Amino acid sequence: MTTTGRQLVSTLTADGTMTLALEEKTFPAPTGNQVLVRMEAAPINPSDLFLMTTGADLANATYEPSKITMQLHPQVAAGQAARHGKPQTVGNEGAGTVFAAGEGEMAQALMGQRVACVPGNAFGEYALADAMMCIPLGEHTSEQGASSFVNPMTALGFVETAKRERHEAIIHAAAASNLGQMLGRICQEDGMALVNIVRREEQAAILREQGEQHIVNSSAEDFEKALAKAIGETGAFLGYDPIGGGQTTDICLRAMERVAASQMTEYSRYGSDQAKKMYIYGRLDLSPTILTPSYGFGWTVSGWLLMPFLASCDVPTLMGLRQRVVSGLTTTFASSYKARVGLEEMLTKDAIMDYAQMKTGEKYLVVPAG
Ligand SMILES: NC(=O)c1ccc[n+]([C@@H]2O[C@H](COP(=O)([O-])OP(=O)(O)OC[C@H]3O[C@@H](n4cnc5c(N)ncnc54)[C@H](OP(=O)(O)O)[C@@H]3O)[C@@H](O)[C@H]2O)c1
Repeated sequence: MTTTGRQLVSTLTADGTMTLALEEKTFPAPTGNQVLVRMEAAPINPSDLFLMTTGADLANATYEPSKITMQLHPQVAAGQAARHGKPQTVGNEGAGTVFAAGEGEMAQALMGQRVACVPGNAFGEYALADAMMCIPLGEHTSEQGASSFVNPMTALGFVETAKRERHEAIIHAAAASNLGQMLGRICQEDGMALVNIVRREEQAAILREQGEQHIVNSSAEDFEKALAKAIGETGAFLGYDPIGGGQTTDICLRAMERVAASQMTEYSRYGSDQAKKMYIYGRLDLSPTILTPSYGFGWTVSGWLLMPFLASCDVPTLMGLRQRVVSGLTTTFASSYKARVGLEEMLTKDAIMDYAQMKTGEKYLVVPAG
């Protein structure tokens, strides 16, 4: 038996025209360890927005019922040649109720349950998901479970990566984000020191409220000095940067080197040999990354992505991380939302111009039945 429902699809053509539209999609009956989930709640995350807007001029887009047509900058469109003419479903994660399951044991065990899932098409009425990747939510509501995968697992992954690389302290930029607040709570639970970089005083206040000790404001005149001081106090020579564009990573490496150089007992014209590493894990700023290498000779800049991290974990570790998330869904891993929108409403000018700004504490939740 097949099931038909509306689904958000993003299509980019070679001339830079991007459309976001609700389309009718037919799902086959699930097989093996697949489950068909009736979607009830899905967060609009920055990674979804990358597929939905990619920095397009939303003010001058054309808005019709259930459809937006927008124009991308030619350079941005050219940079995404691999997706030209290939419609992409949108919505990384969400939660809902399993109402059909394949014959596989794992899928059958989820029948009728409320689950969190990562189907990649969560902005729709239905999604076909892999039972192995679903997290049963028990008594939690779909709204409580909607963001239980991407940001919780990433924040846990940052701490796990730091431990694997033998660090006891980390730097995090855009630290008042939903992910950043979770990371702060995890670090406090795990005894990992954390240097939080924010860009506004209100963000510093949010983090102070949750007990953060080291908060530096990138808009302050003494930013680099304050950052170096926090690095000196914590020993943070590993950092995570979701901004990507501009100089955040550069400034962090520079501040790390400033601390390392101040601890050298002998002068070296090459600078320090302290290992310094920054992971860039997002593109909140789409402009080019600027590096001005003057960080000694022990520095690395790398990407960090959730799926390869999960692939690097053994099954007991993965199960432990999932269990930790479910146990802390309303505490450590709680998310809050500014607004709830139905599928049609998410494509209105007022809504998209608001949620596309990705402001602190202003995430939207898509409620397909709404
Ligand atoms: N690599 C991975 O596997 C992975 C996994 C999960 C998440 N992520 C990334 O993690 C980041 C945070 O996600 P989230 O859901 O926690 O975000 P969120 O709650 O929507 O918050 C976004 C935050 O970024 C700040 N921000 C936006 N544009 C900025 C800019 N140009 N410079 C500095 N700060 C900026 C906002 O501050 P203002 O209020 O000041 O605008 C806000 O605090 C995103 O970049 C996302 O793509 C990556």
